[in-house]
Amino acid sequence: MNNNSTNYFSREYIEKVRQINERLGKIPLAHVHSFGCQQNVSDGEKIKGMLAEMGYGFTPNTSDADLILFNTCAVRENAENRVFGNIGALKKLKAENKGLIIAVGGCMVQQEHIARKIRKTYPQVDIIFGTHVMGEIPHMIYDKLCENRKTLMIPDSEGVITEGFPVLRESDIKASVPIMYGCNNFCTYCIVPYVRGRERSRRPQDVIDEVRGLVENGCKEILLLGQNVNSYGKEHDFGFSKLLCELDKIEGRFKISFMTSHPKDCTFELIDTIADSRHISYHLHLPVQSGSDRILKAMNRHYDTAHYFELIDYAKKRIPSVALTTDIIVGFPGETYEDFRCTLELMKKVEYDSAYTFIYSKREGTAAASMPDPVSDEEKGKWFRELLEVQQAVSEKAYSRFVGKEIEVLCDGIGRTADGCMTGHSRHGVIVDFNGGRELIGKFVTVRVQKAMPWAVVGELVGISD
Ligand code: SAH
Ligand code: SF4
Ligand code: F3S
Repeated sequence: MNNNSTNYFSREYIEKVRQINERLGKIPLAHVHSFGCQQNVSDGEKIKGMLAEMGYGFTPNTSDADLILFNTCAVRENAENRVFGNIGALKKLKAENKGLIIAVGGCMVQQEHIARKIRKTYPQVDIIFGTHVMGEIPHMIYDKLCENRKTLMIPDSEGVITEGFPVLRESDIKASVPIMYGCNNFCTYCIVPYVRGRERSRRPQDVIDEVRGLVENGCKEILLLGQNVNSYGKEHDFGFSKLLCELDKIEGRFKISFMTSHPKDCTFELIDTIADSRHISYHLHLPVQSGSDRILKAMNRHYDTAHYFELIDYAKKRIPSVALTTDIIVGFPGETYEDFRCTLELMKKVEYDSAYTFIYSKREGTAAASMPDPVSDEEKGKWFRELLEVQQAVSEKAYSRFVGKEIEVLCDGIGRTADGCMTGHSRHGVIVDFNGGRELIGKFVTVRVQKAMPWAVVGELVGISD
């Protein structure tokens, strides 16, 4: 197989594998698990789309699968350890079923040292594929089925985008739509630019057509995805705000949300676009990472806290009850308790609805990996727990702004706060639990909020709007 090929989509091999599977006399089952971010989940939906066209059914259990595929994440060490544990556990299954195909792909194996380790330590793995060759999966499966040939395929990518993958989505109500791939930012702690390649955007018309098609098919919530959506469209001379404006013109009852926004590229124009829109979520996920300017500089984030507050103040002024969320790293190399306290202060000042918080994890090949890191893991753990406590109180206070108000909610499942309650997300992206039945799933309803919790609000159903 040509090891230099980039992303293309091998329909010829989909057909060949389908013909082999048809002759089996039973539907072969695939178990696909995506670790990591929404981007990976979205890739997993495309992989499942191709597998479905090749004649595979799906199973949540590894024990009755004919093909097991892990789509991996490399962002932190514990994410990688989880994958190694899962691959190790497959040794027994492979011994019991020699025909079982095991494939491991995605961000983790895009790193050469990891791919080599899997090759050497886990002989049960048949297929190892990087992030730029998803379209080759049918070919790799064909080679294994017909010639019992193992594949390792991890080319670098020039940044090609393939359109037209079949997609098997998890839900009819909500859909993820990637609008760009890769990242050019090289934050000093982060592995993503190394494993996902350079930033590249889909053509605006491709995105608009996909979203329009989804809405016409009854989809109610669209999540636009990219590592830094604010820098969408540079090569098409079509910025992110312009894309949002075009999507907002689509007729129908639906919601658009997006992630992730980088503060250095977040514009006042984007905030205005959200404020003046019909469909766009009143939610800005704006990862700050740290409240210390010294640490932000060492992280190569290209903004300072003063600029961050400018954005936050403008968003609070322009967008009614705007929901703000963030990502924070604790224990970046060289961070002191003083720096960390600045992060706590920032959290309280911004009043985030919620925060994804992480202890710094050293990633081989990144700039921060060679920076002195004198603070012990134990100390970082203490800071981390302090951060969680502060954020919990901040969240509960932030959510209380909805108490007594009537809000619109897209019902999307069964709730967790009481027996038999339903759940959904508001226009602000807030989780809302309320009384009601399963027939409400996929409908917009109105809920009067009665109580704020640290992770959600709870209320009473007052009407069904469609
Ligand atoms: N592109 C997005 C986020 C991608 S990764 C952005 O720039 O915001 C998601 C989050 O994981 C990051 O925001 C960061 O908080 C965290 N993260 C990334 N690398 C990490 C590392 N080495 N250790 C700990 N957390 C990390
Ligand atoms: Fe990683 Fe920074 Fe790119 Fe986000 S913007 S993916 S944190 S390098
Ligand atoms: Fe992980 Fe890759 Fe996403 S490293 S966070 S799955 S882009």
